[in-house]
Order: sequence, then structure tokens, then C-alpha cells
Amino acid sequence: MRIVCIGGGPAGLYFGLLMKLRNPEHSITVIERNKPYDTFGWGVVFSDAMMQAMRVADPISAAEIADAFNHWDDIELVFKGRRQRTTGHGFIGIGRKRLLNILQRRCEQLGVELVFEREVESDLEFLDADLVIAADGVNSKIRERYSTAFKPDIVVRPNRYIWLGADKLFDAFTFDFRRTQHGWFQAHIYRFDNTTSTFIIETAETTFSAHGLDKLDQQGSIDFCEKLFAETLDGAKLMSNARHLRGSAWLNFNRLICGSWSHFNGKSHVVLMGDAAHTAHFAIGSGTKLAFDDAIELTRQFDALGHGRQSIDAVLSAYEDVRRVDVARIQNAARNAMEWFEVVGRRYADTMEPEQFFYSMLTRSQRISHENLRLRDPTWLEGYERWFARRSGLDVADNLRATPPMLTPFHVRSVRLANRIIVSPMAMYSATDGLINDFHIAHLGARAMGGAGLVFAEMTCVSPDARITPGCLGLWNDAQADQWRRLVSLIHAAGHAKAGVQLGHAGRKGSTKVPWEGADQPLERGGWDLISASAIPYLPNSPVPRAMTRADMDRVRDDFVSATKRAAATGADWLELHCAHGYLLSSFLSPLTNIRDDDYGGSFENRARYPLEVFRAIRAVWPEEKPISVRLSCHDWTPGGNMPDDALVFARMFKEAGADLIDCSSGQVSKAERPIYGRLFQTPFADQIRNEGGVATIAVGAISEADHANSIVAAGRADLCAIARPHLADSAWTLHEAARIGFNTVTWPKQYLSAKMQYETNLARSAALTSGAK
Ligand SMILES: Cc1cc2nc3c(=O)[nH]c(=O)nc-3n(C[C@H](O)[C@H](O)[C@H](O)COP(=O)(O)OP(=O)(O)OC[C@H]3O[C@@H](n4cnc5c(N)ncnc54)[C@H](O)[C@@H]3O)c2cc1C
Ligand SMILES: Cc1cc2nc3c(=O)[nH]c(=O)nc-3n(C[C@H](O)[C@H](O)[C@H](O)COP(=O)(O)O)c2cc1C
Repeated sequence: MRIVCIGGGPAGLYFGLLMKLRNPEHSITVIERNKPYDTFGWGVVFSDAMMQAMRVADPISAAEIADAFNHWDDIELVFKGRRQRTTGHGFIGIGRKRLLNILQRRCEQLGVELVFEREVESDLEFLDADLVIAADGVNSKIRERYSTAFKPDIVVRPNRYIWLGADKLFDAFTFDFRRTQHGWFQAHIYRFDNTTSTFIIETAETTFSAHGLDKLDQQGSIDFCEKLFAETLDGAKLMSNARHLRGSAWLNFNRLICGSWSHFNGKSHVVLMGDAAHTAHFAIGSGTKLAFDDAIELTRQFDALGHGRQSIDAVLSAYEDVRRVDVARIQNAARNAMEWFEVVGRRYADTMEPEQFFYSMLTRSQRISHENLRLRDPTWLEGYERWFARRSGLDVADNLRATPPMLTPFHVRSVRLANRIIVSPMAMYSATDGLINDFHIAHLGARAMGGAGLVFAEMTCVSPDARITPGCLGLWNDAQADQWRRLVSLIHAAGHAKAGVQLGHAGRKGSTKVPWEGADQPLERGGWDLISASAIPYLPNSPVPRAMTRADMDRVRDDFVSATKRAAATGADWLELHCAHGYLLSSFLSPLTNIRDDDYGGSFENRARYPLEVFRAIRAVWPEEKPISVRLSCHDWTPGGNMPDDALVFARMFKEAGADLIDCSSGQVSKAERPIYGRLFQTPFADQIRNEGGVATIAVGAISEADHANSIVAAGRADLCAIARPHLADSAWTLHEAARIGFNTVTWPKQYLSAKMQYETNLARSAALTSGAK
């Protein structure tokens, strides 16, 4: 085959040499616009795992690259006058020039033709090529030429960065944060040869322009950065090799995803590779890895399906299928890490203490969890756990294992939760006339003995017409309050758990069948009239609700107040106001369901007016010493709906009105929603509200292991974790997860104690067997 690689970066060179190695019959040319020993950029970092894959693909170039690598294990943070360090992170760094030179030599050895100093304008310059590899980087001309086929989606990220070198060796991957009068700057620093380190400096656009950096040339920016990082540079100089960039040399990162990676131009197949196809932010240093993995996979597909022209179609489609999965995974992690650096200045840097800031930074991609950190550096992690436990008010001896973050106590008003785990409210649709019955007692009693610090019953409705279904619980009469009192005393007697009441009104989502008879489907008989912010039905076949009048508002507010008084009389410890999931109060907050043109619709203030009125009214009658949380849908996942920034505005308003915590859920407001589910998918909302809004939060949604909860709480992404479905599967989720992470000093109900040691021993035994089998 005749193969032309446009672009002699890592992707083009590595693919060229691997293909030639597999089949010397191919005629392969790599065309690069730069000179052979001329490139921009400084060092790049890899993981040890990448080197392993390269050893398999081509042991010769891998050996040379491995020889040239600098290996180091430590990460150091310079922040607020402190230096903190952790080890066990296993990075390798190499100069980009050195890497390319090794690949160029290997290409020449194998007979790949290298053409330098030729700028390619179009793939049609190579009509004899069977295959054109568009490895021409993030600004690929070839991709732009066929943009209707490749469907590139480029997002220009808000931060500015400049990629510099420093003539100083750093013995750890160093992150240095500096505050200026206009905001924070951060440097990502790592050595890559015997004299030089990469020094990437990043800042928010507002800080960048406030310092006038857009008006400075490269030398002006270098002078500025040398002054800012003088303490860390300690007399060393910063250098730029981006002479090809005009102006200031500060760039914005472009996040790129393509709808398709290959195209037939009438003569040749054209395929995207490396940065031309996808980008991953340098915050997790994986762009070069992705380029190499692309090259490895494409050659592997030719090996599998045949090195002839007739296989190209099948090879390209298999290549894309396989690579898309891995690329999406890395891009996801890179996005989390990139966003952390984008918000760090306004979200974490000013308020967090250095210890927690370091933990938050280390877990920024959310690929590295609490237990990953333990594997990397147990001493550091145990030190952090001790710090966190002490901050939570526990006495911790220096020689003992500290209580894991999720099991530390939490104080709010006069309530002390024994730990950070909540049984999230879950409707069971099993009541008659809103009354708690034997099912609820057995169900919630079991969970009260399961170790969680707070047990919520399901959404409890403030009037008969506030119910979702005829099976929902209520607190509108004394008989219901009596049963509630029984439940609360059972929860209190069972162990340490506190009892939570979530009050709600279904609004336009009411008068439906229980889910197992048709979720969200209107009742055929015995239904009731619906009210909502506006007269918009939930489903096309749902009854149209009445837009609430002021009289309706008065009645419903008074129903909330009466239910709150009844809840207070039961001795319950915690109240939550349900303002999420499209129910009545949520329907005021979302512009999708609130199209009112009076004082209760339109602006944030107007949409929040009624929910805040209800909140203030219940706060006034709920005991002063007990907390109230507010559950919000922090993302409507529907165009035109509320977004996390909007939820932040509402969270601040509820905080101002006296809310103690915001319970950060999302969705269920519109049937048109397209949520992006995934592990901890709603935790970013809790993180933003907690750290930008300055109010404690509850994270909820796809938190299923102790490792998740520990990571969230330890990083300060939320104060508490509500666990729903896992608690349906396992009433003793907290006790079992504590055992699974080997923390055996947690308290079991005395009646169950004889099972504890056996349970823990069996877990330890199967863990040992699993790790032995690896
Ligand atoms: C600040 C920064 C730090 C980074 N740090 C890391 C890191 O630590 N680890 C890591 O793995 N990755 C890192 N990356 C990412 C990494 O540099 C890229 O992902 C990687 O280089 C992609 O390789 P590529 O071959 O696809 O593209 P490139 O390296 O961009 O190569 C494309 C080549 O094509 C040439 N070219 C472009 N257009 C034409 C044309 N029309 N005609 C001829 N030639 C052309 C270019 O000159 C260039 O040599 C970093 C990136 C940045 C910006
Ligand atoms: C059966 C069931 C019933 C639920 N009922 C309620 C409810 O009454 N009030 C509420 O705010 N959320 C309710 N939810 C949502 C959960 O509290 C939680 O936010 C959601 O399930 C995500 O958490 P998970 O991934 O841990 O399940 C319910 C969820 C389930 C599975």
C-alpha cells in the first residue's frame, strides 16, 4: 500500500514506523512542515503503563525512549506558603524534541521516507495514496477540509495557558499556586531531561486580561511569570520555544471530539489520528498517549484484517470502534481535571485549607479515588485521614488508623450525625390514606440498624392532593402523626441514626398510579385536581394542572406549616423541603414549567419567591436547634431548563433564608430530559454549590461504594452522601461497606454483634484470594 502521513508529530511518526515494521512492502511517507530538529513544546509526561504497550508494539524504539525518560514518583504542591508532598504516583517525562528525534531515527532505519519543511494544503496532493493519515494536530487542515464528514465539535476552554521551559530540575511533579490581586495562577512543572523542566502556567481569562497579559509579547509574559514564580524558580530562567506563535503565546485549550474519524476522498481513504481526531487537556497529560494508542490500534487492525487495500474500509471502522471507547474514557477524566483547574481560583483556592486542597487536586480527574491514593502512598493518606478526622472533632491517636472520612461525625445546629451517610428519601408507594404501616416500620427500621447517620423516610405529602400516588405517605392528620411518632422512636431506639422527614407536594406530577401499575400514568379512577406553577401537563396524557392562584399558594403554604408542626411533634431530627424532580415547588424554579408573568415567574427572584415563602414559613415553626435541608434539581438536562449555575443562584437564596444544607439532585422536571448518567454524576453540583455558594451540601446519585463516599467527603465535594438504591439492595450498606474497606471499629447493633467478626473475616479472606489470583 501507499501510505502518506500528514504531520510528523508523535501520531504520524509512530504509525509510520509501526506499519513499516509490520509490513516492509508498504511505501510510507511522513510529511512535516517543521525542520527535523525543530519543534515547539517542552517535555511530556506518560504513565508507566503506556511504556508497557510501546514495548510490545516496537521494543527497539521503546527501549530508546525508556532510556531517555526521567522517572519520578512524587507530587508536590506549593500553596499558601506550604509545601506538601506525596509519593507513589509513577510518572515518566521526556522532551518532546528528544521523543520525536528517536521516532524519526527509527522511521529512517525501517525505510519510512521523511519529508521535512513541506506544508501540506490538501490530501489531494497525494492522489497515488491508498491511505492518508491526517496526523496534523489539533488545527488539522485536512479535518477542516472535510468537516461535514468528520463533524468536529470544538469547545474553546476559558483558561489561558503558556507552555514554557525552565532551566531548573524539579524532583517532583510540582504544582505551584500563586495569588495575585486579580486572581490565581497555577504552574504545572515537571523535569524531562538533565537540565530542563516543563513549566506550564495557567490562569482564568479574567485574571489574564486584568494583568494586561494580552498586550504583552512573549518576553513580557516570561518576565511577568518569572516574577510571579520567583520563589520556586529560585533564580532559574523561563524560556519559550513557541516562536511560531505571534503575540503573547498564551493559548486557550481546544477540546475536540469528532463525529467520524474517516472519509473516502474519491481516491484515498483519509483517517484522523492523534490530536487531529481528539484532544485531552494537559491536566492529565494524556495527549501523546492517545496519539500512540491510536497508532498501535490502527496497525493492530491491519494485522488482524489484512494489510491490503481491500481491508482498509473494515480496518478503519474497527479502529474507530475500538479507540472511541478508550478516548471517551480519557477525555472524561481529562475534562474533570481540566474543569478543576478552570474553577480552582473561584471555588477552592481562597477557602480551602492546604491539606484538603491537596487532596482535592490529587483526585481532580475522579479517576484516582481514596483507595487508589492508599495504594500509592498509604502513609500520606493515613496522615490525611487523621487530619480530616480531627477536623471533624474526633480524637485520633497518631499510631492508630483514623476513622475514614465517610464515618466521621457531622454537626449542624444541635444535631450530631454519627457519620456522613444518609438513607436517601425513597417513595415506597405502600401506604393507605397516607399512613405508615408495618411495611414502613420493617423497611425503615432495618435501615436504621444499618449504620447510616440519618434515615429519611420517603417524600411525605402535606395534603391528600399533594400525593404522587394513592400509596404515598402523608402528614396532614393526627393519625398519620401518631404513626410517624412510632417510626421516629423506633429509629432512635435502633442505634445512632437520626430520623429525617422530607416534606413535599407532587404538583402536576400527582394523581398517578403506583409505579408497578404504570409509572407517571394518570389514575383512571379516584384521582384529584392538579395544581402547578403554570398550566403545563407533565405527560401529553396527564391532566392539565391549574396554575396556582394566590389563594392556592396560601393554602399550600399553610399545609406545609401544619405538616412541619406535626413533624416537629414526632421528635424527628431533620426536615427536608422537596424542591426537586418537577414536583410543586420545583415547578416554580424551572423555566420549563414556570411561564408565569406575575411576581412568581420570570427572573430568579420571582421563580424562587414562592418556594422561599414556604421555606421561611416552615423554618419559623421547625425547632430552631434542628436543621432543614432543601433538595434541588441542579440540572434539568433539557434545553432551556435550569443549569448548575442557576441552581447555585437558588442555593444562595435558600442559604440566605436559613437553609442548612442543599441536597443536590437533578432532573425529572421534563420528560424531554437527556441526563448524562455515570458514577457520581450529580456530585459536581454538590461541589459547586458547597465551594462557590458557601453552604453545606449533600451529594446524591450513583454513589455506590465506600470508596466513592470517602473520596467525596475527603475532597470537600460535599459534606454528606445520600445513598438510595444501594440501600434498597442492602439495608446495612454502611456497616457492610465499612467492613469491606477493613474498618472494623464501626458499631453494629448489639443484637447482631455475633455476626460481625465472621462477616469481616470472610470479606478479608475473599479479598486476599482475589489479590492472590491477580
Ligand atoms: C501545554 C501542553 C502540554 C502537554 N503536555 C502533555 C503531556 O505531558 N503528556 C502528553 O501525553 N501530552 C501532552 N500534551 C499533548 C500532546 O502534545 C499532543 O496530544 C500530542 O503531541 C499529539 O500528537 P499528534 O502527533 O497528534 O499532534 P502534534 O504533536 O501536534 O503533531 C502534529 C504535527 O503535524 C505538523 N503539521 C501540522 N499541520 C501540518 C501541515 N499542514 N503540513 C505539514 N505538517 C503539519 C505539525 O508541525 C506537528 O509536528 C500537551 C499539550 C500541550 C499543549
Ligand atoms: C424507589 C425510589 C424512590 C424515590 N423516591 C424519592 C423521594 O421520595 N424523594 C426524593 O427526593 N427522591 C426520591 N428518589 C430519588 C433518590 O432519593 C435518589 O436521589 C436517586 O435514587 C439517586 O440516588 P441513587 O443513585 O443512590 O439511587 C427515589 C429513588 C428511588 C429509586
